[in-house]
Amino acid sequence: MNPFYITTPIYYVNDKPHIGHSYTTILGDVLSRYHRMMEEDTWFLTGTDEHGQKVQKAADEKGISPIQQCDETVVRYKELWTRLGIKNDDFIRTTQERHTKIVQKILQDLYDRDLIYKAEYNGHYCVPCERFFTEKDLVDGNLCPDCKRPTNTIVESNYFFRMSKYQEWLIDYIQTHPDFIKPAFRANETLGFLKKPLEDLCISRPKARLSWGIELPFDKDYVCYVWFDALINYISAIGYGTNEENFRKWWPECHHLIGKDILTTHTVYWPTMLKAIGIEPPKTILAHGWWLSGRDKMSKSAGNVVNPMDMSDKYGVDAFRYYLLAEMTLGQDSGFTEESFINRYNSDLANDLGNLANRAIKMTVRNFDSKIPKPAKFEELDMVLLNKANLTVKTMGNAIRSLQPDKGLAEVMNVVRATNRYMEQTAPWTLAKEGNLDRLATVLYTAIEVLRMVGGVLLPVMPDKMKDLLACIGVSDDCTFADLESGGNSTPGTPIKDIDALFPRIVVEKAEAAPAAEKPKKQEKSVKEKKPAPVIPEGCISIEDFFKTELRTAKVIAAEPVPNTEKLLKLQVQVGEEQRQIVAGIALFYKPEDLIGKLVVIVANLAPAKLRGIESNGMLLAASAGDSLKLVTVDAPDFPSGAKIG
Ligand code: MSP
Repeated sequence: MNPFYITTPIYYVNDKPHIGHSYTTILGDVLSRYHRMMEEDTWFLTGTDEHGQKVQKAADEKGISPIQQCDETVVRYKELWTRLGIKNDDFIRTTQERHTKIVQKILQDLYDRDLIYKAEYNGHYCVPCERFFTEKDLVDGNLCPDCKRPTNTIVESNYFFRMSKYQEWLIDYIQTHPDFIKPAFRANETLGFLKKPLEDLCISRPKARLSWGIELPFDKDYVCYVWFDALINYISAIGYGTNEENFRKWWPECHHLIGKDILTTHTVYWPTMLKAIGIEPPKTILAHGWWLSGRDKMSKSAGNVVNPMDMSDKYGVDAFRYYLLAEMTLGQDSGFTEESFINRYNSDLANDLGNLANRAIKMTVRNFDSKIPKPAKFEELDMVLLNKANLTVKTMGNAIRSLQPDKGLAEVMNVVRATNRYMEQTAPWTLAKEGNLDRLATVLYTAIEVLRMVGGVLLPVMPDKMKDLLACIGVSDDCTFADLESGGNSTPGTPIKDIDALFPRIVVEKAEAAPAAEKPKKQEKSVKEKKPAPVIPEGCISIEDFFKTELRTAKVIAAEPVPNTEKLLKLQVQVGEEQRQIVAGIALFYKPEDLIGKLVVIVANLAPAKLRGIESNGMLLAASAGDSLKLVTVDAPDFPSGAKIG
């Protein structure tokens, strides 16, 4: 079995961590916990990126030294990771000698092989992104193409890495390795970038301008460019150049988790650097989307940055971990609001999972002397449910292997809901009243067996809460996937412990009407005892269920027919800041050119799918009657794309 090495980006220490950093680190933690549960050799690396202009600037502003700035901020990261239950195997800081000496070794080697050379540079530098751009990259004259902030024009002598040499190799590598960059539309983005001639990479900064960096071993007047230094952490941390055996144990079975904003550095700079060094590229680079604050970009200046510590303190670490993983479709942006958090918490955790655990465990405690009952005869209904639960363990395993935990979690929640329906159908409370103990034993055994599988399969996401749940039904939290898959493992007679409300319902109490002169009070939230779940009539869905479908406006910016099909069109749509591809079966009703500029309505959180091998990220809403079909559109062309509907 292949080992599993997973990394997060290393975070800049110019400021304290926020929800974006927490998401990637929790994702890395969850994936590595799953692989450990699958009994694979696993290594999870995170750390901090401590050199460069940003860190120096933050230190200067506080009047402290850069290393002081690093030492102070790194503590905040480490504290947060402990708080969020992160179990990383290593934490690298780029100021550590184990890293700096490897960076210098690589620089010297590339210089000796003429893969690094000196030349005059005339370019545009973006300080927040720590990147140089050429004239043609800039937006609106002088703005950075990534963050849209003004760049500085710089002319100076610098050292360059011969990145251009590897352009053809990289294009070919990406095209022949479909799993290298995920999701696939990000691979297309990189290939799009590679359509322009690839330039050599400026990898130095004169000390006269920036002294906070790793000194070039062949010229003491320069330090290394922070990205060239930072990317090397992925190999310096596992012993490249010092412990060949350990390095070879993990490399190239490596998966980098990154945010979409650092795609180019990871999918262009890094593989070409590795190629020059003589090392294979990592197995996968997975770029996730951004957490937005509602619909807006999070930024310090807008004052809408979500603080992960606050969320965990208020609602619990496990619920926060679950929300982040379940809510974001990997690859796409996701809007964080406290309201959506509370909705998901109340519906998935309090109503569905918490309710099931409560009912099954309490009834067993009451009716079978706090012991797992011996099932009598399994009926088809029981077997169907047990098989479904068993299958979900496999589905989750596959979802994890394909780096799609959100899909796996959706399946697990389906099983939980199916089990709640099973409880309604079999009505154990009536069986108890009627004294039908044989059937009652089978039903409760079945429900507990589902809880064993569901609780086990959710352990990596909610380690503490699921440990508590499993402890109630006599299962240890060191169970493996293999243990979970062997159905029928709940042993009759095993003592059961009564359960406290796992996820008490969050009740949002509206503040009383404020006096006219006062500002309205913020809504106060309090955690109260769980209320019984409302009864949803057959054929209806709850408001929470409705809000799981994320409807948004999207502007069509390009459309073309899918070759060899009659019905399909491939659309590029703008959804707020994000661009997406959607394949829609509307070719018989709309000409591509008629769609450009239309503001349509899409289901934005639909799991990506492939239609005729083409990735589709979302679905267009349309009304159909007989042979006619009309797209649902918003009748106001200047209305923004990405607007939430509902
Ligand atoms: N130091 C570089 C990474 C070097 S890796 C060799 C860096 N650091 S960062 O601290 O600015 O960002 C780290 C990660 O946080 C990036 O993956 C970035 O995408 C992610 N996020 C920052 N804000 C984010 C959101 N609002 N949402 C999700 N992730 C975002 O870049």
